[in-house]
Amino acid sequence: MTATLSDLLGLADRTALVTGAGNGIARATAHLLADAGCDVAVVDRDPAAAARTVTEVTAKGRKAVAIPADITDPTTPAAMVEQASAALGPISVAVNVAGGTAGVNKSLLDLTLDDWHRPLVLNLDSTFLSVQAEAIAMVRAGLRGTIVNVGSTSGVTGAPNLAAYGAANAGVIHFTKTAALELAPYGIRVNCLIPGTHWTVGTRAHMNNPEAPASVREFFTKSAAATPLGDLGEPGQTAGVALFLASDLSSYMTGNSVISDGGILHTTARPAFGGGTAPEAIRDYVGTVRTPHTEEGDD
Ligand SMILES: NC(=O)c1ccc[n+]([C@@H]2O[C@H](COP(=O)([O-])OP(=O)(O)OC[C@H]3O[C@@H](n4cnc5c(N)ncnc54)[C@H](O)[C@@H]3O)[C@@H](O)[C@H]2O)c1
Repeated sequence: MTATLSDLLGLADRTALVTGAGNGIARATAHLLADAGCDVAVVDRDPAAAARTVTEVTAKGRKAVAIPADITDPTTPAAMVEQASAALGPISVAVNVAGGTAGVNKSLLDLTLDDWHRPLVLNLDSTFLSVQAEAIAMVRAGLRGTIVNVGSTSGVTGAPNLAAYGAANAGVIHFTKTAALELAPYGIRVNCLIPGTHWTVGTRAHMNNPEAPASVREFFTKSAAATPLGDLGEPGQTAGVALFLASDLSSYMTGNSVISDGGILHTTARPAFGGGTAPEAIRDYVGTVRTPHTEEGDD
């Protein structure tokens, strides 16, 4: 008998918790988890955004609860897990997405200690406390579970003017490895999704902010132009990686980080050594690419 996609994912009728799920990559992940059969606890500091995602998840026929809360409050992680489990049943999937630059972008030479701490609290403290609360709840409920943390390519490469955000996300990537080792004996897998730059509420706000220095807008336009796949990402293009890491399709993976960045981390400022024209083997075919879904006679 052929296995269904739902069988392969192994997510049907599980309770998932997603932080930051009012917008962006987390919201798109909440949609996919619902499509895969999960009920979803939507944690976001913006109550209206959380409520919108709840409406979207319930429209897919799954249960959902909005948990308006600020992840930088150290009491939030334990409280969100408790509220999610009380409303939807014990969680066995958690995707810790909420994070960001905390509005800190300046040279390390100008950073105050408070500037340095804010991205650490938003990205690294929150991930530590969330994983701790989620894992304790899963073990106490007697459930095997999967946890997906979200880092950033700024935690993989040097990140000029984002020193604290970069260090925090490097910390998320490393913490994921340790958490994977400590939690494996309890049947909990922990992996990390590393997005490159995406078009989301946060990045569009920077792009459209007339007060932002031109260099900020330039970061987005130059990054888009330098991305091998042709543009910055859309949340829906990366949420599938979170779903994969949360699902049984990755059941032998733990402690790993998966990059979804349109290929930009593979690029280099060094120019290509020669080339410049289409390879001879495909010269006559360039520009005739069809997707596997293109029906005969569609074009
Ligand atoms: N968008 C990018 O270019 C990009 C690149 C690399 C990494 N990331 C990471 O991906 C994650 C999601 O980013 P995004 O761009 O999809 O987000 P987004 O800006 O589209 O949405 C973020 C959501 O999180 C919520 N949120 C923010 N701070 C919160 C807090 N303290 N407590 C609770 N909720 C909070 C916001 O209300 C919002 O709904 C972040 O951790 C970010 O660092 C994003």
